[in-house]
Amino acid sequence: MLKLNIYIYSAIIAASSPAFAEEKVSDLCQFNIRRSDAVDFPSKHAWNLFMYLNHPADKKTGRRDKPDCSIPIGTPGTTVQWEAWRHADEVFLSDGSEPPDFDQKSSDEFSPGKIPEALFTLGGKGFASFHDLSRNFVKRGPPNSNGVSPMFAPDGVFNNGGGETRMNRSTYQFIKDNCLWSAQGQQRYARAILEGKKKDISFPSESIEVKAMWIDFAAQSISEENQSTYYTAEYNGKKYGLSSLHIITKDIPNWYWATFHHADAPKNDFGTPDEAGMPDLLKKTVWKNYRLGGVQIDFVKPTGEPTILSDPYVENGFERSSCITCHATSTISQDGSRGPTQQMAICLLTPDTPGLGLSVDRCKSLIGEKYFSDGKLDVERGAPLPEWYVKGGKTAYFQTDFLYSLTFRTQGKNETKPAPARCNW
Ligand code: HEC
Repeated sequence: MLKLNIYIYSAIIAASSPAFAEEKVSDLCQFNIRRSDAVDFPSKHAWNLFMYLNHPADKKTGRRDKPDCSIPIGTPGTTVQWEAWRHADEVFLSDGSEPPDFDQKSSDEFSPGKIPEALFTLGGKGFASFHDLSRNFVKRGPPNSNGVSPMFAPDGVFNNGGGETRMNRSTYQFIKDNCLWSAQGQQRYARAILEGKKKDISFPSESIEVKAMWIDFAAQSISEENQSTYYTAEYNGKKYGLSSLHIITKDIPNWYWATFHHADAPKNDFGTPDEAGMPDLLKKTVWKNYRLGGVQIDFVKPTGEPTILSDPYVENGFERSSCITCHATSTISQDGSRGPTQQMAICLLTPDTPGLGLSVDRCKSLIGEKYFSDGKLDVERGAPLPEWYVKGGKTAYFQTDFLYSLTFRTQGKNETKPAPARCNW
């Protein structure tokens, strides 16, 4: 669990101390991640994380959580660091069983070993790397009873895009240590909280998760020339380009939130200004075509107004939303029920959101008439309401510490054999 941390701190030392810099001439990892930047310089922090996450993974050793610092970022044919992390579907297995060790390489699920060489370079303008996307696409059923439609299926958002969620060692290990990999494990954990045996879920400070969105070049009519401006992948004979990258880190208690998108993304009014600017290092690589969409470190501004942040691809159809607010509604309970909190969160920002099956009338029935006058919200709210977590006067829904993959990816996946004894709290 500590490896990443040690690594990051050694990278900082290398970058800030001349003695180390001289010794490590081959250290091409140029990111400088400081936890305090999350609050003090959030845009700069976002770019440092972007450089770390998109640095080539180490295909020589196949290790999952330390990039290859002997080659520069943007090297053709490489696969990036976050792609070597564990995919959510390798964590929340369909038979509800315990996932393997983070470093395990023998299973078929291990993908970094399959990092292929670039198949072509387009006119020297950029590069394309091809990698295994076979597990990125989660097949989802019809909308569930809360009306949430499939958001991340290959034919979901933008009709032909796909979403991919991956977690680092710290996040993964916490889920393993706390038996949170299955729906039943989460119910047992909620019961243990009620019985005073466990504390609320709180991931270690080294935890990071990303969610990537890919667009289908053919379906979106992206020209050959423009394709070279994307970080690319191929799956089932189709070519995809990375359109967005959501990043969250536990640098601060309610997580640090950032999102990047390709320069050609549709216009979105719900970002925040990039106060740092793109690092020079990226300007000769394919990554120069990506923009910081915004950062978020709190529910509200000092005035109490909600903070808003979204990505034009991932939050397509509900752009007037707030990462931190929606994620605060990911909950577990002892009977597995969830309550419609995700929709309530959206109702308090944009009651009229057909993309999520919401209208003013539906929102009135979800959050109560008291928040509306003349069919309009009285005050938008960015902070969660305590009532979201209560049933029959008692706390019944316990937050998953903002991580939505826990509750989303375990839906319909039941334990088929008893969990390890240590999971019965
Ligand atoms: C309307 C609710 C909603 C909003 C708004 C939202 N998300 Fe999410 N997010 C989800 C759900 C649901 C998932 C789980 C999907 C999955 O596992 O594929 C998720 C997954 C993620 C993940 C994967 C990690 C995890 O376990 O949660 C990241 C990272 C993420 N979102 C970042 C963001 C960022 C950054 C923003 C704002 C720019 C944002 N999200 C806005 C609902 C939301």
